[in-house]
Amino acid sequence: MKYVLAFQGSPRPKGNTAQLLQRALDGASELGAKTEMIHIGSLKMTGCRGCYSCKRKGKSFGKCVLNDDMTPLYAKIEKADAILFGSPVYMCAMTPELKMVVDRLFPYLTMDLGSLLKKDKKTALVFTQNQKDPALFEWHFNMTAFMLNTIGFRTPEILLSVDTIGYAENDPDKFAGVNALKIHEEKQKFKAATWNIDLDRAYKLGQDLMQ
Ligand SMILES: Cc1cc2nc3c(=O)[nH]c(=O)nc-3n(C[C@H](O)[C@H](O)[C@H](O)COP(=O)(O)O)c2cc1C
Repeated sequence: MKYVLAFQGSPRPKGNTAQLLQRALDGASELGAKTEMIHIGSLKMTGCRGCYSCKRKGKSFGKCVLNDDMTPLYAKIEKADAILFGSPVYMCAMTPELKMVVDRLFPYLTMDLGSLLKKDKKTALVFTQNQKDPALFEWHFNMTAFMLNTIGFRTPEILLSVDTIGYAENDPDKFAGVNALKIHEEKQKFKAATWNIDLDRAYKLGQDLMQ
């Protein structure tokens, strides 16, 4: 049975990113996969400490010497047939939660930019952003895809959902903002037209990961 793992990088466990990742997992599950979603925000872990123990000759080679909630996830990553990495855009980039996990993949990367990851995993990136223009952070999505490929994953498919609805747009009366109501109406209209399409794209992405 194939195993598909998703790293959910939004601090909001039921937000846009989590919903899209769940649909992708549903798509994989429909085709027989065992799936698992990791909400990074609920883990007790740190980023990479830059100790380079994972690059030293000897027993720490290829391993992270930190011992925290990321530790058991290495085995899951190695076992997985496909992996999704999801994040909202925060200040033009992935969230610190997801970045922390990506940085902790450093043990898989050798000093000559080879990879110790043995399994040929299909990979996907799921990003959500408040702004409308899908090209705004394309550079970041592409660099993340490039980095994951260098670490040893197959070049990821990238799914982006734009003009998403967050807290404030959902309940404009409670939030300060010059044109909150106008934004609310425009966003609700956009969401009504596109959100189900994005969920369907996510479902198909999950199914593609199983091919
Ligand atoms: C701290 C913070 C920074 C953000 N920065 C950006 C940004 O740079 N560009 C953008 O389009 N949206 C930005 N957003 C909006 C989120 O990306 C958007 O609402 C996203 O869909 C939230 O995903 P979630 O529901 O999974 O948490 C930001 C939101 C927060 C809270």
